[in-house]
Amino acid sequence: MSGALDVVAIDGPAGTGKSTVAGQLAERVGAHYLDTGAMYRAATLAVLRAGAAPDDVDAVATTVEGAEIVLEIGSGGDTVVYLNGEDVSREIRTAEVTAAVSAISANPVVRTKLVDLQRAHAEDAFLVVEGRDIGTVVFPNAVLKIYLTATPEARADRRHRQNLAAGRPSDLAEVLASVNRRDHLDSTRAMSPLRPAEDAVHVDTSDLTLNQVLDRLTGLVGERIGVR
Ligand code: DC
Repeated sequence: MSGALDVVAIDGPAGTGKSTVAGQLAERVGAHYLDTGAMYRAATLAVLRAGAAPDDVDAVATTVEGAEIVLEIGSGGDTVVYLNGEDVSREIRTAEVTAAVSAISANPVVRTKLVDLQRAHAEDAFLVVEGRDIGTVVFPNAVLKIYLTATPEARADRRHRQNLAAGRPSDLAEVLASVNRRDHLDSTRAMSPLRPAEDAVHVDTSDLTLNQVLDRLTGLVGERIGVR
């Protein structure tokens, strides 16, 4: 198989457990895991470091076009993200980057550049790709498309616990407000808004454990393409 036949697309809003699910699913089925949100975060960090305003469309486009963003991916293990040769894997998770990322990812020049990078990763690999527009725009021919959902409260609660576990300061009410704000921005932007592909399988993770979600998805991958 080649190209998009080798892609499992996982889309959905923030806090559905998408990253954990996608990373562990990749490990279970012998695929590589591509975290496209990490690319948008690296682009955002480039803009913040350049001192450009996130809503200055031209300045954002110029800055991100000139930035070298590289993701080192493997099966399992964390993704390592490089911005102009520097490992920024931790810095892209700060609240400052999270607050600005929706504005940067609404920029068409940014999306075009990052979608090209995402497709290049799939050229000769079996990939689980996680994002917002993977099944709709980046890999519309993906062999399996999953749309993960969960209530805003369940998603905010998960993000809050992740922050605390990672030693980042966190306030649950603020996290909930940020989840709602990002959902709104991501689903109302003009280019590639967050929405399920027509042929996506919807999985609501609100009341499922991680293992239950993984069992369900591993079963779906097995049905569609077999586990290698
Ligand atoms: O999954 P995440 O929270 O790390 O994603 C960060 C932001 O990047 C999110 O607010 C929306 C954007 N994003 C996007 O627009 N398209 C993608 N394929 C992935 C992420």
